[in-house]
Amino acid sequence: MTNENALLFPAGIQISGLTGAVSPATGQYEKRLSELREIFADKAAFDHAVKEQNDPLVYRVVEYRPPQSDIFFGTTTMFPGHVGGEFYMTRGHFHARRDMGEIYYTQSGNGLLLLESREGDSRTVEMKPGVCAFIPPDWARRSINIVDEPLVLVWSCNPEAGHDYADILKRGMRKRIMNEGGAVRIVDNTAYA
Ligand SMILES: [Fe+2]
Repeated sequence: MTNENALLFPAGIQISGLTGAVSPATGQYEKRLSELREIFADKAAFDHAVKEQNDPLVYRVVEYRPPQSDIFFGTTTMFPGHVGGEFYMTRGHFHARRDMGEIYYTQSGNGLLLLESREGDSRTVEMKPGVCAFIPPDWARRSINIVDEPLVLVWSCNPEAGHDYADILKRGMRKRIMNEGGAVRIVDNTAYA
């Protein structure tokens, strides 16, 4: 019997639920505020925040991707902040593969997972330690940190799932998550295209 794939061996990967560190990791990237201009409503407040706060880090993604595996996983660590009354959030994405879902398992902090189906159904799932969110195939997802401490989650999906960021960047999502004096308010996105 032949197997064209490289033989994969089991491994235990150390993940810090407090810092999002993954060891060993195979890759990571970071998003600073200046890279997220499209997603925030208040462009004047945004430009001011980038300048005055010296372009702060909004989130970091670290992954463990075994070659030729059908699963990979990693962490997203979101730092606290808000711009023009809007909490820090991720870009948001659909999967390029419309048949592949994902899980987001919150480790520390507190947030909201904003989800949107292709048909326009908008949902939220609370992100708090112990909650593992099931994200069905073909739902867009965006994470929002709603407290004044880092939000750390573990995600896992098929590496073939891919990312479709363009749709959300272009159209936005139907809801915005606002910080009103520390309280969380979900409002309609009046600029939704
Ligand atoms: Fe994903």
